[in-house]
Amino acid sequence: MIFEWLDTYNLNVKEIDDQHHQLVDILNRLNTFITKGAPAKDSWLGLINELSDYAYFHFKTEESLMTRHAFEYAEEHQEDHAFFKNKIEYFKVAFETDDMNAADEMLYFLMVWLQNHILIVDHKLCVFLNKKGII
Ligand SMILES: [Fe+2]
Ligand SMILES: [Fe+2]
Repeated sequence: MIFEWLDTYNLNVKEIDDQHHQLVDILNRLNTFITKGAPAKDSWLGLINELSDYAYFHFKTEESLMTRHAFEYAEEHQEDHAFFKNKIEYFKVAFETDDMNAADEMLYFLMVWLQNHILIVDHKLCVFLNKKGII
């Protein structure tokens, strides 16, 4: 299972597209890492932390654009980010308590959430930003 970048993921707002590329890159590294056997737990946690740090940074970028341009669907968009944050915190705790069985569940969640979020939720935001002249 690998997140293949398709042209439909490009949303025509450079800052957001660049950050999505980074997120997908970290996710694919995490996927390779986990599926390649049983690497040291510390290095998994390092990558999960890298992913969550970068995701939080990315969410802030989008959320400040929403605030600056008075995006009317900001609240539901932020709720979806909050859902992701809660999930990733749950997985971090699961790994810290040594529940390696959570790995497949986590990878599946991350892939599906990110694909859907980009294609539906971020897409709606970027259409709005494009109309405001932001590309
Ligand atoms: Fe978003
Ligand atoms: Fe995004």
